[in-house]
Formats: sequence, C-alpha cells, structure tokens
Amino acid sequence: MNSIKLFCPATVANICCGFDVLGLCLSTIGDEMIIHKTQEKGVRITKITGDDLPFETERNVAGVAALALLKEIKTDFGFDIEIHKKIKAGSGIGSSAASASGAVFGINELLGKPFSRKELVQFAMKGEALASGSEHADNVAPALLGGFTLVRGYNPLDVIRIESPSELYATVIHPQIELKTSEMRVVLKPEISLKSAISQWGNLGGLIAGLYTEDYDLIQRSLHDEIIEPLRSPFIPNFDLIKKAALENGALGCGISGSGPSIFTLNKGIETAKNVAFVMNELFYKTDIPFEIHVSKIDPQGIQIINQEN
Ligand code: HSE
Repeated sequence: MNSIKLFCPATVANICCGFDVLGLCLSTIGDEMIIHKTQEKGVRITKITGDDLPFETERNVAGVAALALLKEIKTDFGFDIEIHKKIKAGSGIGSSAASASGAVFGINELLGKPFSRKELVQFAMKGEALASGSEHADNVAPALLGGFTLVRGYNPLDVIRIESPSELYATVIHPQIELKTSEMRVVLKPEISLKSAISQWGNLGGLIAGLYTEDYDLIQRSLHDEIIEPLRSPFIPNFDLIKKAALENGALGCGISGSGPSIFTLNKGIETAKNVAFVMNELFYKTDIPFEIHVSKIDPQGIQIINQEN
C-alpha cells in the first residue's frame, strides 16, 4: 500500500468529571488526511487546507507525532502528509488530536500495522504536547480507539476503552472564538481541596459505572465538574445560559468540551439530542458570535480508512 486517505474524528475530552483522563469520539465531524509513502526518507507536510497551520514538520502536530512513531521503527522510505482541516484549531473538540492521531494511524497502516491502535496513543500524545504544552491523551485515545476512553494512568500509559450505551448521543455547540488549550491550562489551580476531590472521583466512578451498566440516571447524576468548570466557564460566552437551557430540555448533563469554547451535552436518544441542539441554536442565534452545532452518536470506531491505493 502506498497511500491512504483517512477520516479523523473530532472528540470531546474531560466529559465533566474526567479532566485529562476521559474522552469520547464523535462521528459527524472530522478532518481528512492523505498520507503517501515516498522514496525520500523523513516526514513532510505537503498540503494543508481549511486552516492556517505550520508546514515545518517539527512545528506541526501531525509531523511531530509522525516523527515520534518513526523514532521507534526504522524505514528506508518517508511520508508526505496532506491535512484537510474541518475541525478548527482552538475549538475544544480535538483539532490537534485529530491531526496527530491521523498521522500515526496512517503511517502505521502504510508500514503494515506494527503497532496496535492502543500503542499508537503514546506517539499521538507527542503531537498534543506540541499544541498544548502537556501530553494528555484524553482526545487522542478516543480518536484512535472510538467509544469512550479512560486513561487509568499516564506513567506507564494505561488506556481503557469503554463501549458507549446504545442510546447515548452528544450535542456540541462550537461558538467560533478560539481558546488555546495552553492558555486554558494556565487558568487552572495546581491544587484542589479534599472535598472537591471526593466529589470528583465519586462522580467519575459513577459515570464509568453508568456507562458499563447503561444506567442513564446514574450517568445523569455523575455529569458534574466542580473543579475545572468554574475556572474556565467565564471564558465561554453564554456558558451558564446554554447549560441551564440544555438541562431544562432533557440533557443528561452539560459541560465544557475539552478546554472550550465548545460546550457539550450527553443525551438519551437522538430526539432529545436534536431538541437540545434546537434550544442551543435559539439562544446563540441572538448573539453576534458565529457558531456551529453538531449532533452525533458516540462513534464506536475512531479513525476510519476512506480509501487506500497501491
Ligand atoms: N484535558 C485537556 C484539557 C483537553 O482540558 O486541558 C484539551 O482538549
């Protein structure tokens, strides 16, 4: 195989109570990437559409992730990467993760799959580090594995994939302002109180149990974040208004997607998810901030191959 075209999905990280450890994969929005095997060794970013991103391999998240993989495996050839962005940078739905994951997934396929999807997470994280200053895996893991993913530990990396309950749908509103993850990490406090920690790990355990048992009431009771949300939500226009309206209209829970500005809800059933989207639309329409809304099932697959050529 000499070239491969991929769909690289958007993701929601944190999911209220799982800061830096929990993520989920969306199915209705994602980038496309095309990766070609070349005679010339090394990695080149040859084409970028849809966003203004660096072409220098070492300054591009896809390039950095690809180089991390190629450090582990010697090849006599190289790779050209085309990136066609649909997920805007600084949107909070895993733009850098889609690029980093796509690069390592595509190269791995062209190499004959020496690594499993799970093993690719460690390389994709290097791209995330370039984008945000921290090697978090809560976007790259669901982009690569699909479903929900839990990072049980970072050292050593221990990622667990969790199947989504069948009736769970996400609604995500993306107000089109850019919030850089690196800047949204600076607003966080390095220490938390024992009281907050107890409530957060109670909710995280509850959410995981709710996902495994398809207990939507338990999922609803668990979707809270009293540590990160109060510090970041003031940077997101209309966050409180949207959250209140979403919960009043049937969402199981609502929170900041990743480091924002996107806001996500989880909903039981597509009708509720669409209804929440309608309400979000009504509210945001009155502002002068452009926005997009996505209603999506939780994608079980992660990155998908669109086609491949010899
Ligand atoms: N867990 C990361 C953060 C996700 O919230 O900073 C960034 O998309």
